[in-house]
Amino acid sequence: MLIMLVTELLLNIFCLSIGALASQKAFSNDLSFEEYTEQSLLWAPYRPNCYFGLRPRNVDETPFQLGIMWFDNSRTDGVTRLRHFVDQGDHLNKYGWDVYDPRLGGRETIIDDDNNLNLTIYFTKSHNGQNWAVRLHGEPIDANRDTTASIILYMNQNGENSNSRLVNMGSKSSKSMKFHGVSTELGEYEISVKRNSGKLFKDRALSSMEIVPGCDASKTSHLSMNVPDDSVWKAKDVFQTLLADSVKSILETQPEDVHTSLIPSVFTVRNIYGLPPGNFHFLQNTFDNSDPKGFELDVVYNKVKASERISSSEDVSNLISYTLAEVTARFNRNFQFSFQDEEHRKFAMETLSNLLGGIGYFHGKQLVDRTTELDEDTFREVPFTHPQEEGPLSLFTSVPSRAAFPRGFYWDEGFHLLQIMDYDFDLAVEICLSWFELIEDGGWVAREVILGEEARSRVPGRFAVQNPHIANPPTLLLAFSEMLGRAIEQANQGSMNRFGEEDATAGNNQLENNSELLITYAQKIYPKLLKHYNWFKTSQQSSLDDYLDILEEDGILDKVYVNETYRWRGRTVTHCLPSGMDDYPRAQPPDDSELDVDALAWVGIMTRSMRQIAHILGLEKDEQMYSDIESRIVENLDVIHWSEEDGYYCDVTVGGEWDDQRSFSCHAGYVSILPFALKLMPKDSPKLDQIVSLLSDSNKLFSDYGILSLSRDDEYFGKDENYWRGPVWMNINYLVLDALKFYYPEVVSKDKKVPSDAKKLYQALKQNLIDTVFDNWEKTGYCYEQFNPKTGKGQGIEHFTGWTALIVNVMGHA
Ligand SMILES: *[C@@H]1O[C@H](CO)[C@@H](O)[C@H](O)[C@H]1NC(C)=O
Ligand SMILES: *[C@@H]1O[C@H](CO)[C@@H](O)[C@H](O)[C@H]1NC(C)=O
Ligand SMILES: *[C@@H]1O[C@H](CO)[C@@H](O)[C@H](O)[C@H]1NC(C)=O
Repeated sequence: MLIMLVTELLLNIFCLSIGALASQKAFSNDLSFEEYTEQSLLWAPYRPNCYFGLRPRNVDETPFQLGIMWFDNSRTDGVTRLRHFVDQGDHLNKYGWDVYDPRLGGRETIIDDDNNLNLTIYFTKSHNGQNWAVRLHGEPIDANRDTTASIILYMNQNGENSNSRLVNMGSKSSKSMKFHGVSTELGEYEISVKRNSGKLFKDRALSSMEIVPGCDASKTSHLSMNVPDDSVWKAKDVFQTLLADSVKSILETQPEDVHTSLIPSVFTVRNIYGLPPGNFHFLQNTFDNSDPKGFELDVVYNKVKASERISSSEDVSNLISYTLAEVTARFNRNFQFSFQDEEHRKFAMETLSNLLGGIGYFHGKQLVDRTTELDEDTFREVPFTHPQEEGPLSLFTSVPSRAAFPRGFYWDEGFHLLQIMDYDFDLAVEICLSWFELIEDGGWVAREVILGEEARSRVPGRFAVQNPHIANPPTLLLAFSEMLGRAIEQANQGSMNRFGEEDATAGNNQLENNSELLITYAQKIYPKLLKHYNWFKTSQQSSLDDYLDILEEDGILDKVYVNETYRWRGRTVTHCLPSGMDDYPRAQPPDDSELDVDALAWVGIMTRSMRQIAHILGLEKDEQMYSDIESRIVENLDVIHWSEEDGYYCDVTVGGEWDDQRSFSCHAGYVSILPFALKLMPKDSPKLDQIVSLLSDSNKLFSDYGILSLSRDDEYFGKDENYWRGPVWMNINYLVLDALKFYYPEVVSKDKKVPSDAKKLYQALKQNLIDTVFDNWEKTGYCYEQFNPKTGKGQGIEHFTGWTALIVNVMGHA
């Protein structure tokens, strides 16, 4: 129904404007939409794998890079707690953004008890996005604990073989240091590093803090050298190596025991090898960590000849205040909560901020094995042993978890976008397009996009190589289809926002509000999407040859559309990684005759999305074709995959012991309800109520913490790896809520006189999900990858603010 409505609206609204490319509306300082996008998204901490790591977007040859590390260097083993990349093994009490927007900046809080450090990192920009500042504010957690806070800042101007450079301009001893830089792509700039407050570590009883020349904790240590562009990410290794060599030589030449007050000086980096200066810089400041007021350090970047220079620490303070207030205001505008209590609000703001804080820009080569064939005989896992480096490619994306998965995941990203589009529609489109750019001529996109060695360093070896036979649920098309739908709806409502209020600040919803712009984009990517669609359909198609006699015997051959059946390539006996639900039970034994219900449903989503785009572009014949395919898929779901006996959708196989009949492989769980969750069932389907009762049954899928991935009464429930065999996952739960609203509009009705099973389910599920994620956050400070089906306790990856962050949308909607 929704689809029909959208189609009609599109006809009315857009047909006239097709071909007449949008006269792109200037909306801010006379910038076009593209210019505004580039400028407002140029600078941000786009290295989400670091606790704080900065680089510009879309600057590939000569980006400037910055990172921050810290440790307590008053301990001889302090360097084992040197922090750099986000790592669950660091056991930080807390880290992450409590307020953040990549266009504006924000505030990250880090509580590192092992290092006795309470660190707040602010990132802010000039209004035109050209200049930026990072402010570090550190305090001891316990001022009496005798520690130091040694902060290492590293910077590099990439572009070894160009005229790009970064040189120190000032004296080293002052509280302020200046650098002059040139990026051949971004031009000339200045950087100042200034200590606003805080004392460097010094023992007044000693005449000097210098243990050897260059190693003096009471002074800023500066080391400039050359590091190859592709090794800058190894800054921690470089630092540790230099430090180890220096410490070793100090200890060899020191006859007596080192005074404890000099240990921080021993653990200060110096130019031990007399390296010539280069574009890479370490700056180490070791603060006395006994002052409860702590320290403050500003790093400020100004383009030479820029307007809106950031010239003082007052400027930085003012910009920070503006940033924090503006992000908060945008957040409040975009999410309307029934929760008024401060803790829920803080939770929601922080969770959204952490999803946005995971947005990164990646550039580099990826490893692809185009030679190795999958084993479709015995279905053992085939290692991809013929990797080739391909690229370089670029990707602008958010990540499932900065701690565990700091790279692009095709299956997660659509869910991230469903959330991001509620906050900043244009940003969501920008990310979506970046992914679509990756579609290669053959139509394939990698399941995990791992670009460059920095990204690769965080991937277990067996997952690093991608293979072009392997697909993954095309959630990006789900999100894109949602975006198109929204834009149309918005156009129809004029300047109302989606709460039906006058919206005077379209700001970052240009694409949502300006359908002409979106059409331009749709035109640009249609050919690529078409390739992707065709690749998906051909590469994952399943043949019905083995079924023809059986279907005829069953008397349904004439009802089946033989060309619309699919299975995931690349499953093994125990796992089906391509499906996204790795260990969810599948037909046993595996067989190449298998028909996977979720694969078919996902092709249905792609088809629906292609139909919408074709419609917007006025491609009537294409639209008709997609429309036909879509209805065949909808029918095949019911005719082939619905098990009357079980009352839900199942995979089907003719392999196994009874190879002369169609047997269902039925495991109630996320796979069996997917056609419902993706709104592919007809609105008048009598099967809908059966799905609702399965979802509501607390002996099966219902729990106090959300819908379980696998039914309690399934033989595989909780078994083996137990990844998708019971635990509650937010992504599918979100789809279920959305589908309930779609099929049963009364679920959001406040009128108590409309009771229904669906409404009971919707309201209980919504509350359970909110409570589960919130309670875990309140107890531990983190969002989790999944939740225990029996206790609701967060498990798996900690600091998983990818799709778990969809809870913010759940809270912010009716
Ligand atoms: C960390 O520092 C901030 C800012 O001074 C303060 O508000 C917060 O309470 C501190 N947190 C801890 C755990 O010490
Ligand atoms: C949204 O678009 C409509 C129609 O193009 C326009 O009238 C309205 O002013 C726009 N709203 C905003 C806030 O830009
Ligand atoms: C199914 O595919 C075959 C081969 O691609 C094609 O010849 C046939 O026309 C298709 N059938 C339908 C009903 O589309």
